[in-house]
Amino acid sequence: MDQNSKKRKVAESVLDLIENGEILGIGSGSTVNILIEYLPKVKNKIQDIVSSSVKSTELLKANGFDVNELRAVGRLSKYIDGADEVNKYLHMIKGGGGALTREKILAHNSEKFICIVDESKKVDTLGKFPLPVEVIPLAQSAIALELIKIGGRPVLREGFTTDNGNIILDVHNLEISQPLAFESKINNIPGVITNGIFAMDHAHLLLSAGDKQVEITEPIV
Ligand code: A5P
Repeated sequence: MDQNSKKRKVAESVLDLIENGEILGIGSGSTVNILIEYLPKVKNKIQDIVSSSVKSTELLKANGFDVNELRAVGRLSKYIDGADEVNKYLHMIKGGGGALTREKILAHNSEKFICIVDESKKVDTLGKFPLPVEVIPLAQSAIALELIKIGGRPVLREGFTTDNGNIILDVHNLEISQPLAFESKINNIPGVITNGIFAMDHAHLLLSAGDKQVEITEPIV
């Protein structure tokens, strides 16, 4: 089964976990785009819906949803999103699509974060996927120097502006053995909005699609 079919499979299977009265957060990316196509099937169960990006909001609207804002709905009952890498603790790297900051806000403000991936995203150690860091533009070179000091090779994502009006540095060459500590360390650099390590706000449940089935796992404690 190819990667796209696995994405379709996992996106469809998460529908079974949607319960009546959900205040649902929806993330961003190609797997979530597929989920949004399927979501009208469970529309009657969804009380409110918010999204992590302009793109997802547009797609939700095109599929018949009235999209609300986090400040209007308060806490989310569930947040569903993809990932670029995920380990057995359900720590992730996210932000390949550049929506990491709003994704982290929604993840932090949800009762349950469900991550949906095809199995290629599962890793032992985070860092092979370049770590996205959202940065205030005027601090670009100062932050790049700090990232080099900690062993990374930051590359400006050319021609890209986030939904918040900022830029992204994609940091190569990292081997993130301590995701929690590393997440805080990078977030403490002045001018960093957030980085794509989701360790503090890790997922509570992982659905990963392989060739035969969708495996459901909880984080190792
Ligand atoms: C978007 O900013 C990301 O965090 C996505 O959730 C992540 O990149 C996974 O995307 P795909 O589903 O396209 O692999």
